[in-house]
Amino acid sequence: MTTVIPPPHPGVLVRYRRMLPITEDTPALTLGEGDTPLVQSVAIGRELGCRLYFKLEGCNPTGSFKDRGMVMAVAKAVEAGNRAVVCASTGNTAASAAAYAARAGLESLVVLPEGGIAAGKLAQAFAYGARVISVRGSFDTCLRLVRELGQHHPVGIVNSINPFRLEGQKTAAFEICDVLGDAPDFLALPIGNAGNITAYWRGFRQYYEQGGASQTPRLLGFQAEGAAPLVLGRPVAEPRTVASAIKIGDPASRDGALRARDESEGIIAAVSDDEILAAYRDLARQEGLFVEPASATGVAGLRRLHREQRVALQGKTVVCVLTGNGLKDPDCAVREHTPASLSPIEPTLAAIEAHLGW
Ligand code: F0G
Repeated sequence: MTTVIPPPHPGVLVRYRRMLPITEDTPALTLGEGDTPLVQSVAIGRELGCRLYFKLEGCNPTGSFKDRGMVMAVAKAVEAGNRAVVCASTGNTAASAAAYAARAGLESLVVLPEGGIAAGKLAQAFAYGARVISVRGSFDTCLRLVRELGQHHPVGIVNSINPFRLEGQKTAAFEICDVLGDAPDFLALPIGNAGNITAYWRGFRQYYEQGGASQTPRLLGFQAEGAAPLVLGRPVAEPRTVASAIKIGDPASRDGALRARDESEGIIAAVSDDEILAAYRDLARQEGLFVEPASATGVAGLRRLHREQRVALQGKTVVCVLTGNGLKDPDCAVREHTPASLSPIEPTLAAIEAHLGW
């Protein structure tokens, strides 16, 4: 008799099957997404006076949280008989769509704003075999074009306007409750197209309603100052920020985000690029967590709300979602982390000691 050992990472469709819109015809697609580490802070939590945990979504197979929703959306595209999937993206959705499409044997088409995509993400999209189109326009323009494409051609749109994306993405909230034994008091995260905050709120509410948690968290969502339509209360025609992943002026899930904020008694606020970059550097140096710039926005936001005394974090359990891996954006890493010159020295112990001043 052979013993069947279940894989350690069965993926979110298998793990949370009962909580997701899965039928007998939904393929068991997975790249081992989900089950990402929840790591306790050693420095920034002390600074904020709270029990701070980081949810390391950069540990997903393509290096961002997008894989949770993408596995669900692509599985549903297969179930619906689509031969191709399409998305607009600031990079991570494109990488994820291309990977899961490759896995499922579908074609993928990604529509990207000109010049706004971090190098690692663009390389991923090509590596996984996507057809890549660069458009003279913003992410918001790309999304409009993708919607039009979907009306004229039999392609599955896998942006978060596809409801299955949000269904898959809510599994991150389930995991946090499973690991902590309850929902946290606060959840902090970046906002771009606003799908993730909408999905987290749905997930926390579902767990609470099913008795898996005794509370729901207050959601704290953060935009970059130059791309903060939800804070300003109107679309931003030409969004600007160093955090290219969240350079979005008219979020598709705006209503979901505002509902998540209001129902959770949360806050949506803006942070400057300088604050984002300071958090980006500190996460790496003080916590050992190398994330892409947009992913540092949650820490920047927590610091700002704490400084302005807009939230009382003292003694609370706070989860900060780190949405994507630092290797996604090598140009920013080099700019922020690497010294201008790294000149080689002679290959001797004496030369190393002299260099170090030891
Ligand atoms: N963090 C990262 C690293 C992202 O890539 C995104 C969105 C967000 C945060 C914001 O999440 O859109 O659900 O509010 N990236 C999308 C993309 C827009 O195309 O990859 P959101």
